[in-house]
Amino acid sequence: MASTIFQAFSSLIFLFTVLILPVFSTNQSPFGFLENMQGSHKGDQVEGLYELKQYLNKFGYLNIQNLQSTSVEKDDRFDDLLEAAIKTYQLNYHLNPTGALDSSTVSTMMLPRCGVSDIMIDGTSRMRAGQKKMNHPRKSMHAVSHYQFFSGSPKWPLDKANLTYLFNANTSSNATSAIARAFDKWAASTHFTFTQIFLDNSTVLPNVTADIRIGFYSKDHGDGYPFDGPYGVLAHASAPTSGSFHLDADEPWSIGPVADHIDLETVALHEIGHLLGLEHSSVAEAIMFPSVSDGVAKELHGDDVQGIKDLYNKP
Ligand SMILES: *[C@@H]1O[C@H](CO)[C@@H](O)[C@H](O)[C@H]1NC(C)=O
Ligand SMILES: *[C@@H]1O[C@H](CO)[C@@H](O)[C@H](O)[C@H]1NC(C)=O
Ligand SMILES: *[C@@H]1O[C@H](CO)[C@@H](O)[C@H](O)[C@H]1NC(C)=O
Ligand SMILES: *[C@@H]1O[C@H](CO)[C@@H](O)[C@H](O)[C@H]1NC(C)=O
Ligand SMILES: *[C@@H]1O[C@H](CO)[C@@H](O)[C@H](O)[C@H]1NC(C)=O
Ligand SMILES: [Zn+2]
Ligand SMILES: [Zn+2]
Repeated sequence: MASTIFQAFSSLIFLFTVLILPVFSTNQSPFGFLENMQGSHKGDQVEGLYELKQYLNKFGYLNIQNLQSTSVEKDDRFDDLLEAAIKTYQLNYHLNPTGALDSSTVSTMMLPRCGVSDIMIDGTSRMRAGQKKMNHPRKSMHAVSHYQFFSGSPKWPLDKANLTYLFNANTSSNATSAIARAFDKWAASTHFTFTQIFLDNSTVLPNVTADIRIGFYSKDHGDGYPFDGPYGVLAHASAPTSGSFHLDADEPWSIGPVADHIDLETVALHEIGHLLGLEHSSVAEAIMFPSVSDGVAKELHGDDVQGIKDLYNKP
């Protein structure tokens, strides 16, 4: 009896921790401003809508020049372009394509996510492989893969399947182990192998480098894509073959899924996908889906593995 009550009580605590707390915490994210705009739609003028345009610009849904400049007048009008961009976003994230900022769109937009943009600029293309099925996007939803490549399909040369990686010296050993596990998982499912290069005092000269260089950085770190503190943007990585992989040092990282924390290995799996040539996928279960909830761990999905096979033309 007592143990049943105890079990019921502890699962209640578990549910509370897992389901309730993250809602509070992500509200304080850099994307929290979106909450004030909930319910707005075409024709509205809402103070701060300008920030939503910056968000959509950053992730590839709008292509407004000068938006980053503080000198331009802040445009808070909900216009046709914004409506179209939101519709494309909603299609990518399996939301009702209303073009309005409804509550499910706001909560999806507020999820922590990768800093790499979802689509290439024009605000109408979709997060999917090729444009052939564009006439019947809904019908083909279950029939086609949804991985995609970067523009121009950059990839590593076929004879370069053994990539080396190197951590900044200030990376904790817990972090290097979690990220190394992510490399091992990709190696187990693709033709790639990965070898960690260790820098100790004896290998500083001659200058050692690696195909992939990994580090944790805060806020502005010199590459034009500043991080934003806890939640918001978690990490970003480059397309082949530049090999740069940056993580936001200010995230509440965890090793394994922990409520209110971001599972480092999950984010590493995602960013390694970029380093190998994958762009974002619209398959919600795929590791290449752009956002990840706190307290959640994900694994490689068939969509991710198939994407690498197709990019490198491997059976
Ligand atoms: C990959 O390259 C590293 C460094 O050059 C080397 O130590 C390692 O043995 C290679 N691994 C494979 C599987 O070729
Ligand atoms: C690393 O992981 C160990 C075991 O999980 C933990 O006890 C330790 O606090 C962690 N260290 C850091 C710096 O997070
Ligand atoms: C590297 O050099 C620093 C300073 O010279 C020293 O404190 C440290 O112990 C050395 N580390 C190793 C692994 O030799
Ligand atoms: C090594 O790096 C130093 C400073 O970063 C540079 O001056 C030097 O030319 C490099 N040496 C080689 C062999 O690349
Ligand atoms: C870690 O080291 C790199 C390279 O020295 C530096 O640029 C970066 O700011 C450091 N990261 C943190 C979180 O201190
Ligand atoms: Zn990404
Ligand atoms: Zn960066």
